[in-house]
Amino acid sequence: MADDRNAFISALPTQPGWVSRSLKQYQGFWHEEGFIPGILSLQEKFRCKPDHLVLTSYPKSGTTWLKALLFSITNRSRYRATDAAANGNPLEWCNPHSCVPRLEVYTGSNGDDPNPDPVLVNTHLAYSLLPKSMIHSKCKIVHVAREPKDVLVSSWHFAVKLRSKDLPPLTFSEAFDMFCNGVSDFGPYWDHVMEYWNTHLKFSHKILILSYEDLMRRPVYNVKKLADFIGHPFTDVEECGVVEDIVSLCSFEKLSNLEVNKIGTRSWANGSVIKNEIFFRKAQIGDWKNY
Ligand code: A3P
Repeated sequence: MADDRNAFISALPTQPGWVSRSLKQYQGFWHEEGFIPGILSLQEKFRCKPDHLVLTSYPKSGTTWLKALLFSITNRSRYRATDAAANGNPLEWCNPHSCVPRLEVYTGSNGDDPNPDPVLVNTHLAYSLLPKSMIHSKCKIVHVAREPKDVLVSSWHFAVKLRSKDLPPLTFSEAFDMFCNGVSDFGPYWDHVMEYWNTHLKFSHKILILSYEDLMRRPVYNVKKLADFIGHPFTDVEECGVVEDIVSLCSFEKLSNLEVNKIGTRSWANGSVIKNEIFFRKAQIGDWKNY
């Protein structure tokens, strides 16, 4: 069985990777080879429940931010955004990625079980690759999308920092060509975004699309929109302060300056250990112009 799976994976089309040696094309999208077993298990075994809330994104589109916001919105009766003490709000002492599991990484390393406890989960998979139970259940999906040129610049910086030392450096020019040719983790970018967009047009009660840029410009408006969409709207009382507190706790300035995100590291379920600071760079709209 494992041999069949390995043979299947090694026969998939291959291209050089950004972070690791190779990307494999599976069901039309490129993925790091090491993620494919987890993706296969996720597709076969994930049991989606109606109360699951799934955050989906193309990498470097604002996943960390949305993890913090959704965690804060859904847990606001347990943790106040202003609880700064060490035993207060978990976002003060945990990286947002520790609060919301990423399914394809979790699955590959938990005895092949793709079902974490929390109902708030995240994946970078394209819509057509999601487990069928996720598509057919009444669960809600929040998708965040970002200007692709900023995604490219952010992805390149991220890859340069994480790239395996056995590989030659990845130049920006190479990354540019790979991105434009659709050969990037979870890419092609446009196919990824358009699948979510087109499904949102048909099933707007199931999929909400947010843009990184609009969230940056109108955070309070978008946090209320998120809460309404997931069926957990803010009360009139909460609208006087709680929404702003959540926006402020999850802001780039606040999160990137927390000790846990400045000097902390995190062991990911796939065994890699990554510095938390890598998820916080500039958070600027239009940084692509500098490249
Ligand atoms: P830049 O590299 O352009 O700075 P992801 O979380 O999907 O990996 O995306 C990472 C990008 O989101 C990085 O962009 C990072 O700086 C930015 N980011 C991280 N936390 C943020 C926050 N709280 N608010 C806005 N942007 C944030």
